[in-house]
Amino acid sequence: MENNKSKINLISLPKIEDRRGNLSVIEKDIIPFEMKRVYYLYDVPSGSERGGHAHKDLQEFLVALSGSFDVILHDGISESTVILNKPNIGLLIPTGVWRELKNFSSGAVCLVVASDVYIEDDYIRDFEEFMCSKKTTGK
Ligand code: TYD
Repeated sequence: MENNKSKINLISLPKIEDRRGNLSVIEKDIIPFEMKRVYYLYDVPSGSERGGHAHKDLQEFLVALSGSFDVILHDGISESTVILNKPNIGLLIPTGVWRELKNFSSGAVCLVVASDVYIEDDYIRDFEEFMCSKKTTGK
């Protein structure tokens, strides 16, 4: 599933419905990169915000395993907001997109599948620097 705004790339995951509880799966062909790392955000206090950075090379795939939260995306030109609130819908965030995560519901869990290991040098943590990098590199 792809939203009309090209930078919002939602991907439906297979959902195996079962009276005993539903099951979704992220298989390697569902996301357009090789998975190298999985991490998750949880116990997020009310009003807390995460993210606030872009990546030079890393791609990420986010899923609200439980609860909901907003993802604000900026591609250097415009901003858009995606609400993630289903464990079988994920958001692909390509390289070079600023993201902020806000409005976590109580008990929200954000799963992140990443295309590489943790590399601090891959982060751009300053928004002005991010905007400058978009102008100079166009990536
Ligand atoms: P960060 O990616 O800035 O968090 P978020 O964007 O979710 O708010 O990560 C916060 C800290 O956690 C960072 O300074 C280092 C550590 N960290 C790791 O050690 N390994 C990881 O895979 C990640 C994502 C973070």
